[in-house]
Amino acid sequence: NSVQNLHTFKLKSNAKKISIIEDVTELNRFVGKANGYDFVVLGEGSNTIFLEDFSGEVVRLNLKGKAIKETETDYFVTGAASENWHNFVVWLLENEVYGLENLALIPGTVGASPIQNIGAYGVEVKDFIFKVEYFDLTDGSTKTLVNEECFFGYRDSVFKHNLKSTAVITNVTFKIPKTWVPVCTYGELAQLKSPSAKDIFDKVVSIRGSKLPDPSVLGNAGSFFKNPIVERNIADEIVKHYADAPIYPTLDNKFKLAAGWLIDKCGLKGFEHGGIAVHDKQALVLVNKSGVAQGKALKEVILKVQNTVFEKFSVVLETEVRLIGSQGEISVENAEQ
Ligand code: FAD
Ligand code: EPU
Repeated sequence: NSVQNLHTFKLKSNAKKISIIEDVTELNRFVGKANGYDFVVLGEGSNTIFLEDFSGEVVRLNLKGKAIKETETDYFVTGAASENWHNFVVWLLENEVYGLENLALIPGTVGASPIQNIGAYGVEVKDFIFKVEYFDLTDGSTKTLVNEECFFGYRDSVFKHNLKSTAVITNVTFKIPKTWVPVCTYGELAQLKSPSAKDIFDKVVSIRGSKLPDPSVLGNAGSFFKNPIVERNIADEIVKHYADAPIYPTLDNKFKLAAGWLIDKCGLKGFEHGGIAVHDKQALVLVNKSGVAQGKALKEVILKVQNTVFEKFSVVLETEVRLIGSQGEISVENAEQ
């Protein structure tokens, strides 16, 4: 039961069993079990890496469907968990529902989008999520959370904490205002003059194509680490040595650093070990160059990157990607932590 083609990093791992769920009622057999440990619910595997053979079951959802409703002021758009995210964005654009265009070309499913609150080019999906419906593995009931109950943060939500192993997301509803407000604050988007939603979509697709490796060509899982959020003293120390360091103040008086820049400044761009490399166009992305690389080599590269960045900048990099070991989700800890 190879899972190599079920995750975009494409390590050659296996699972005890692989099954497909066509209807929510089929989830009843998992009540009392833990997602991520006894079994792993998988969307398109673009944020999940099977580091080694997994002793549990890989459960692929095939829950499809999408619908647009409207009030005088807003569109309410619902997508079932297994809808492809990028196709969903394209479909909305075709239906003249504008707002999600900055999130074009993010791999994966609608169902996974709230889990790490996907974000890109100045927009996070939390800005549009109205409610999330999930199957509760503790009792088999269907529950709904409204936006505030999801505790969204940067690459974070309740689905990575209290509901980490007990919620299987089945539907997501987005509230998209009919009055469209373009977001062109991030990087090269600022060059656009009075853009349409389609112009923003096209620009995002082109920027992403120039930096991020296409997983169908080169195995990868997007940004491997989260951009670290640090206290002022750490940010000041970096600016002292590198006046042009990309540093963004956060609303709570902290500072978000660009992990890709930190890794790049450590001279690790292009670093390669055991078939795993730091991408040569975007140092925040690790790539599986050989297609036969082992999870062990990936672990070693993760530690090498974390330790080198810690030694140079005293900054801890946390993985953004979800790592699955033989018994379920694991973390590869920085030696300094
Ligand atoms: P999977 O990897 O299949 O699952 C992710 C996690 O969620 C797993 O722990 C899984 O168990 C759980 N899960 C999945 N579906 C469900 C469900 N229905 N219910 C409960 N749990 C579930 N992310 C960004 O935020 N911004 C980006 O710009 C971005 N760019 C990327 C570029 C590339 C080239 C790649 C490969 C990835 C990128 N990502 C980005 C990461 C990825 O696209 C997102 O995390 C996406 O939401 C993952 O969707 P998926 O269906 O592939 O999730
Ligand atoms: N940079 C470098 N060298 C590098 C990479 C980046 O100097 O090798 C610098 C860039 O020049 C820029 C800064 O770092 O000044 C930020 O780079 P970029 O705009 O490419 O964005 P990022 O911070 O590396 C984040 C997200 C991406 C998202 C982009 C665009 C995280 C962990 N990553 O990347 O999300 O697409 O912004 O919004 O927040 C993902 O989550 O998988 C992902 C790809």
